[in-house]
Amino acid sequence: MELNNIYKKAIVTGGAGFVGSHLVEELLDSGLEVVSIDDFSAGKMKNLDHLSSRPGLKIVRADISDRSSVEPFMDGVDVIFNNAASKKNICLDNPERDLEVNARGTLIMLELAKKYGVKKFVHASTGSVYGEPSLFPQTEEHPLDPVSYYGVSKLAGERYVILYSKLFGLDTTCLRYFHVYGPRQESNEFGGVVSIFIRNMLNGENLTIFGDGTQQRSFTWVKDIVKANILVATKPEANGECYNCASGITVTINELAEFIYNNMNSNSGTIIEHGDWLIGDIMKFDVSNDKIRSLGLNFETDFWEKLRITIAEMQTYLSTKV
Ligand SMILES: NC(=O)c1ccc[n+]([C@@H]2O[C@H](COP(=O)([O-])OP(=O)(O)OC[C@H]3O[C@@H](n4cnc5c(N)ncnc54)[C@H](O)[C@@H]3O)[C@@H](O)[C@H]2O)c1
Repeated sequence: MELNNIYKKAIVTGGAGFVGSHLVEELLDSGLEVVSIDDFSAGKMKNLDHLSSRPGLKIVRADISDRSSVEPFMDGVDVIFNNAASKKNICLDNPERDLEVNARGTLIMLELAKKYGVKKFVHASTGSVYGEPSLFPQTEEHPLDPVSYYGVSKLAGERYVILYSKLFGLDTTCLRYFHVYGPRQESNEFGGVVSIFIRNMLNGENLTIFGDGTQQRSFTWVKDIVKANILVATKPEANGECYNCASGITVTINELAEFIYNNMNSNSGTIIEHGDWLIGDIMKFDVSNDKIRSLGLNFETDFWEKLRITIAEMQTYLSTKV
């Protein structure tokens, strides 16, 4: 069933962020009305600028951990894509804010979904809920043992989401994203390694690899993440389920750095250098995506081509302010 035959109006929390802005765009293209809710703590207006004249889009500055700021926008909403998250935690910066947004904020969005008769709640979770992988390939049955404040708070959010399906019959699904990359990704220290390396090249900075660079990542194209969100929103059998969203591609950090270095000209003496290992850095990712593929999702496999597109778009993006 097509999305716009089931739903007319969507909320995307974190809509001014990296993944959220791609989702907003796809939902508008599918003919839905979209309310983007973001507190702009990390999100940027420039992520939505190209969509701001679209009649179906409402851009709201609101905080999902403050119920009264979100509730006025709930009327007529029939699907919520909950992508807002606090991620400062990864460097153990503000664990209380992580709890506030990722757990309590999710609970507030679920309460509002129940109160306003929302038909579907799709939640952005993360591979970080697993912690250090110990069983390969890593399926959704892998033990959940997060090793960061972020992972713990995201796991709490995920548990609330599944609980609302069990207790109240709200149709909910969790998607555990892994290593998403693509245009509009944050390139500061909270961003992804792809956008950080691209920014390094543009600024004439060295590309610093933590450790020997043989650690692998399962990079996942942002538009595949969008497709996964839309797919689970149209599949009744996804109710109450969690799905890994990882492309299955494995690329080492050395391979990534070399490709970006060779595909972006640098006249400024930039080099690839190796620094200390990051404490807790995970070496190997072998994530099973069988469950979401059996629902009908096909992941892009041409990583290097998508990386070329990302490099081209990020060069323009990073040169624009706001
Ligand atoms: N990018 C990845 O590789 C990745 C991997 C795993 C999981 N995720 C999850 O995907 C989702 C989107 O991540 P992203 O990479 O687009 O990050 P992002 O930081 O670009 O987007 C998150 C957005 O949430 C907004 N936000 C934060 N707190 C908020 C609040 N209290 N109220 C309203 N908005 C708030 C931020 O301003 C930002 O725009 C998050 O839930 C994240 O945990 C991302």
